Amino acid sequence: MNILIVDDDEMVRYVLTEKLSESGFFTTAAHDGQSAVELFRERTFDAVLLDLKMPGMDGIETLKELRKHDPDIPVIMVTAFGDIATAVVAIKLGAYDFVEKPPQISRIVVTLRRAIEKAALEREVRALGKNVEESAALKLAYEKLKELDKVKTTFLSSVSHELRTPLTSIIGYAEISRKKLVKIIPELVGGDPKITKKILQVDENLEILVSESERLAGLIESILDLTAMEAGTAEWRWEPLSLREVIENIAAAFGATFKEKGLEFVVAIEDDLPLIKGDRNRISQVINQMLSNAAAFTDQGRVTCGAKRVGNDIVLRIADTGRGILASRHGVIFEKFSQIGDTLTDKPKGVGLGLPLCRLIVGYHGGKIDVESEPGKGSVFTIVLPVEREDEL
Ligand SMILES: Nc1ncnc2c1ncn2[C@@H]1O[C@H](COP(=O)(O)OP(=O)(O)OP(=O)(O)O)[C@@H](O)[C@H]1O
Ligand SMILES: [Mg+2]
Repeated sequence: MNILIVDDDEMVRYVLTEKLSESGFFTTAAHDGQSAVELFRERTFDAVLLDLKMPGMDGIETLKELRKHDPDIPVIMVTAFGDIATAVVAIKLGAYDFVEKPPQISRIVVTLRRAIEKAALEREVRALGKNVEESAALKLAYEKLKELDKVKTTFLSSVSHELRTPLTSIIGYAEISRKKLVKIIPELVGGDPKITKKILQVDENLEILVSESERLAGLIESILDLTAMEAGTAEWRWEPLSLREVIENIAAAFGATFKEKGLEFVVAIEDDLPLIKGDRNRISQVINQMLSNAAAFTDQGRVTCGAKRVGNDIVLRIADTGRGILASRHGVIFEKFSQIGDTLTDKPKGVGLGLPLCRLIVGYHGGKIDVESEPGKGSVFTIVLPVEREDEL
């Protein structure tokens, strides 16, 4: 600990320096207030022993200067016998304590230690206070962010609602127009190949209009689903559920898709798979998404969909030999709209809501979804769902 001793009396300086060094302090001595202030500017001290009565700049003035420079520095005044009134003034100005001359070393040592400890504690308390303030500010910022996120979600969901109705009309009218067109083509053209070709083109355009609108409607449904789930307002219909039944139903529907792409499709479900407690539609949605992703991102090889019991869980494993996913994207793909980033290069069909939805649904079932994948080698998605407990059935 570094102590600055300030006293015009050489003898006092000498004694204090000697004795304090013996007690393990490092000391620096100054013979007047001015040089004390200069020393104080250059170096850091843990405490100051300051003579009250000095020629030139006296103790009180020096104290003021020192505390201007460092308001926390513990200063102990050394007073002449009977000068208590001035010592009290010094304490009012922020001195820590005073000792009377001739200085009693043991008392000074104790006072110094206590003063330094107190100053350290005060610094700590102040730092803690700052931390508390900072964490309060952080909390506020976090609340604000959450609020903004909520506003955004509400906006997204209300806009989506508004889009749904006109879109239904668009799809409806486009479909009716197509039907009418097809019906009246023969009457209209009377065999003219040029007009036939034109009308067929209109029909094709209408077909695109319908399919794109349906895609948009699907997207809107996904957004509404997702926002409702995030807001906790989605409705769930819990029932004892056979995953075998769900998977087999969906797999049957996917058979044609895989065949068309020339992919082998294997479904392997363990016998006597226990039931889970789940929402049939939502779980179907998850399996559906898994298989449609596998189909979309696999050009050759095979897709496997397996289910087995492991302990108190059912583990679903959907594996493909497709293009795979970069390790850096393994976390990102479960985030909303993850695909938007590479839209320009990849021209993907989806928007990247499938996996986030799956993750939310699986989470609501008390389960977990994970991916293992390597570019070029394929992907394995693993979904772990807890088995329904007997007493809950
Ligand atoms: N089996 C897979 N193989 C390779 N990449 C995949 C696979 N499944 C998902 N991905 C990657 O993760 C992204 C996000 O998938 P997700 O299902 O969320 O969105 P999407 O299929 O692109 O669009 P959406 O499902 O909303 O129509 C995909 O765009 C794709 O890049
Ligand atoms: Mg998808």
